[in-house]
Amino acid sequence: MSNKRSLIGLFMALTLIGSVPALADVDGQALYRQHCAKCHAEDGRANTMRGWLYFAQNLSKAKWQDNNSDRDILDAIQEGPGAMPGYADTLSEAEQLALVKAVRDLRKP
Ligand code: HEC
Repeated sequence: MSNKRSLIGLFMALTLIGSVPALADVDGQALYRQHCAKCHAEDGRANTMRGWLYFAQNLSKAKWQDNNSDRDILDAIQEGPGAMPGYADTLSEAEQLALVKAVRDLRKP
């Protein structure tokens, strides 16, 4: 009886663990297109209508990339400077980290 119950508990714990996305499974570029491209543009240059309206940062510039650490980018994603929304509550930590990487991939020489 109690044995059966702990088996069920174990099964449920395993199901829960299985549903937590691993970092490798999060597609940062898809998240970027979904949440960020409307202002920062697909290529990060922010040459979109909203980018113009809100003075969104050009994320592809090498100089900007050099001047900002991964921590700075993560802070921006979580807090949302200026007109940008913050994503601390809407995206998981793994998703936020995947976005930092996606932002790094926007770098142009
Ligand atoms: C509503 C438009 C909008 C959306 C959506 C948006 N941003 Fe921004 N973002 C901005 C604006 C505007 C700024 C400049 C804010 C300022 O400095 O006043 C900015 C700044 C940034 C910065 C730079 C901050 C700095 O210190 O230079 C980063 C990094 C950034 N955004 C990443 C992202 C990422 C990643 C996403 C998607 C998760 C995103 N943004 C979604 C408008 C947006």
